[in-house]
Amino acid sequence: MTSQQSPEIHMQEIDGQHRMLVTLMTDLHEALKYARATETISDAFDEVVEYTNYHFTVEERLMRESGFPGYLLHKAVHDVVRVQLLDLRAQFENGGRGAVSPATLQFLRDWLISHITAEDEAMARYLDAEAAGSPARVTIH
Ligand SMILES: [Fe+2]
Ligand SMILES: [Fe+2]
Repeated sequence: MTSQQSPEIHMQEIDGQHRMLVTLMTDLHEALKYARATETISDAFDEVVEYTNYHFTVEERLMRESGFPGYLLHKAVHDVVRVQLLDLRAQFENGGRGAVSPATLQFLRDWLISHITAEDEAMARYLDAEAAGSPARVTIH
């Protein structure tokens, strides 16, 4: 997996979390690709699952507190990914190192990048406008 950077949405805290998520997904991809020790892969999985959940929870709190109108839709997208990650980890735990293809992680990383440029960017525009005192009309993707 190439070291593609996460797009910036110009919210310092969230941009930092996106960079961390891309790094953790890349680490997991490499652990799977190079068939590292089961424990190494398992730890990398735990990090991705836990940090993704942490990051999504931060965004969801920001959206709820600001009254962002696209909150439910955005949270529904997060929830699908939460379930997918838990499902993948279960596949790995039940089936061992060969049970999860490295390409799946590539797909998830690509999904994350497009989520940042669409839904997260819309959230950031709303939060910016709200901070300036006039919530923008946002396009919900
Ligand atoms: Fe995000
Ligand atoms: Fe998000």
